[in-house]
Amino acid sequence: MSTKTEKNLKEAFAGESQANRRYLAFAERAEDESLHGVAKLFRAVAAAETVHALKHFRVAGGVGKTRENLQEALSGEMHEFKNMYPQMISDAKEEGQKAAEISFHYANEVEKVHAALYAKALEDPEKFPVKDYHVCKICGYTVGDQAPDKCPVCGANKKAFFKVG
Ligand SMILES: [Fe+2]
Ligand SMILES: [Fe+2]
Repeated sequence: MSTKTEKNLKEAFAGESQANRRYLAFAERAEDESLHGVAKLFRAVAAAETVHALKHFRVAGGVGKTRENLQEALSGEMHEFKNMYPQMISDAKEEGQKAAEISFHYANEVEKVHAALYAKALEDPEKFPVKDYHVCKICGYTVGDQAPDKCPVCGANKKAFFKVG
């Protein structure tokens, strides 16, 4: 693949991925403002941006076999909690940016959990159990089977968890 197109696919993947999350955030805000029609529009376009993002990513050759994908996912999570977030947390502290510090801290703690889950799956993907997961909507803490009474990362109660089947 030509260098320009390869670069463009990566750029388009990043842009569409961000647009998806941005529109979902905008949809939540529209719901808060009782603008349900606009919220639905944002969610629909967000879903379409995901279609674009996934297509660009696949065409760019970003998807390997599951073992490779798990390995890549594990490395990414490890990079985040070993290097990326610790630096960002210390920058936020230095600059007195409390909300950013908390946001980075939550992500940092949860990436450790994600890394552990991926490492476990990598041990034997064939035997890795099929289960539902619960995700804390405050911090992203991710847990299999049952949601805890209290989130171990942010302290939110059970109601803050949503199920991912
Ligand atoms: Fe993660
Ligand atoms: Fe949490």
